[in-house]
Amino acid sequence: MSTREQRRACLAEAGWNLFALHADDVIIDLLTDSGTGAMSRDQWAAIQHGDESYAGSPSWFRFRDAVQALFPFRHVIPTHQGRAAERILFSVIGGPGKVVPSNAHFDTTRANVEASGAVALDLAPVYPPGEIHDFKGDMDIDALERAIADHGRDAIPAVCMTVTNNSMGGQPVSLANLRAVREVCDRHGLPLFLDACRFAENAWFIKLREPGQSERSIPDIVRDMAALADGMTMSAKKDGLANIGGWLAMHDDDLAERCRTQLILTEGFPTYGGLAGRDLEAIAQGLAEVVDEDYLRYRIRSTAYLGEALAARGVPVVQPIGGHAVYLDARSLLPHIPPLEYPGQALACALYEEGGIRGCEIGTVMFGRQPDGSEVPARQELVRLAIPRRTYTQSHIDYVIEVVERVAARAGSLAGLRIVDAPAALRHFTARFAPN
Ligand code: F0G
Repeated sequence: MSTREQRRACLAEAGWNLFALHADDVIIDLLTDSGTGAMSRDQWAAIQHGDESYAGSPSWFRFRDAVQALFPFRHVIPTHQGRAAERILFSVIGGPGKVVPSNAHFDTTRANVEASGAVALDLAPVYPPGEIHDFKGDMDIDALERAIADHGRDAIPAVCMTVTNNSMGGQPVSLANLRAVREVCDRHGLPLFLDACRFAENAWFIKLREPGQSERSIPDIVRDMAALADGMTMSAKKDGLANIGGWLAMHDDDLAERCRTQLILTEGFPTYGGLAGRDLEAIAQGLAEVVDEDYLRYRIRSTAYLGEALAARGVPVVQPIGGHAVYLDARSLLPHIPPLEYPGQALACALYEEGGIRGCEIGTVMFGRQPDGSEVPARQELVRLAIPRRTYTQSHIDYVIEVVERVAARAGSLAGLRIVDAPAALRHFTARFAPN
């Protein structure tokens, strides 16, 4: 526990960037759901079986089989986390003059596309945050057709679909939309890749909301999603239920060969990627647990519990509530703070000062800086309260509700921020701010 005065001092020391805080100075940490969950008894037991052979470890074969049971791609390439898979993929298929359309790239995906010299396009429609749709993560199919017509199919090395759509509220993508994207890709001869970090949460929403899916098992729905794609990138720190890990997978032999060459340069031999054998075991077990319906019912309900409580208290949130996080709509809550004074960052800092809660701005700080160095307002100004898996109790979350309510009640008194120091890319991780 800490006092408000202590937290003010921590904020100043951190340059009003919550990534720069010592985690010991955070009371409830909702910065991310990535790698921050609690592993189960059976995952810890699996870790004891980790075999650290350099090549061909039995832990590798268990990992590969667990991945292919859900995602039957011919090639599975382990990596230390999702962005390593992205870097390898886009360094092979990206490059200057290329364009990569997606429903919405997350920050590291966009950065890896752009680092290769290619352009990342976000094509999901931007709905008003309060408007309810079952599948707000879906790709705008007309916008995809237009992008292909504008840039030409030869400029597009792949189309990507992020499930669930993290930058737009943890919102799911429907099977119908994946099929429609597949159909467009087939017509133009384009490969389709999933960014599948939260695939199980997405499959649960499909089961709950999509006509004809309610009686199907989660693994069946996941395999349907996989069957519509040519490959995937994955962070096992989300729906792998592990603290580290990821993979890249695909059917194409030639592409796999080129990616493995990159893997060996920077990650490791193809039967461990950047991981220890014990990590591969934890992920294999995590993949069996994450598709359990009791787990998913609890997971999605507990996120909705926070979101519904805030909405009932008049706090503007992205609706319906997403899978892994509740997204506060800072643009509506702080209309007096212009986008280039970072209303989301101001709100995130206020939640920390008020109650030691650490969330994450998903707005102009994260997405406003353009590859040419200019700055434009992001499509939305959100603060994400991400819920680590199997970690916090309902009483922790009740405390979060109280703190957000207190900050919302004095929203009019919050001021914006300015950036005093920022790196060229991925500035949200390390930029320093000062209050206006
Ligand atoms: N794709 C999506 C949709 C993500 O949310 C993330 C990570 C990645 C790729 C990259 O995976 O972290 O293992 O390298 N998202 C985290 C978050 C960091 O907080 O949402 P990674």
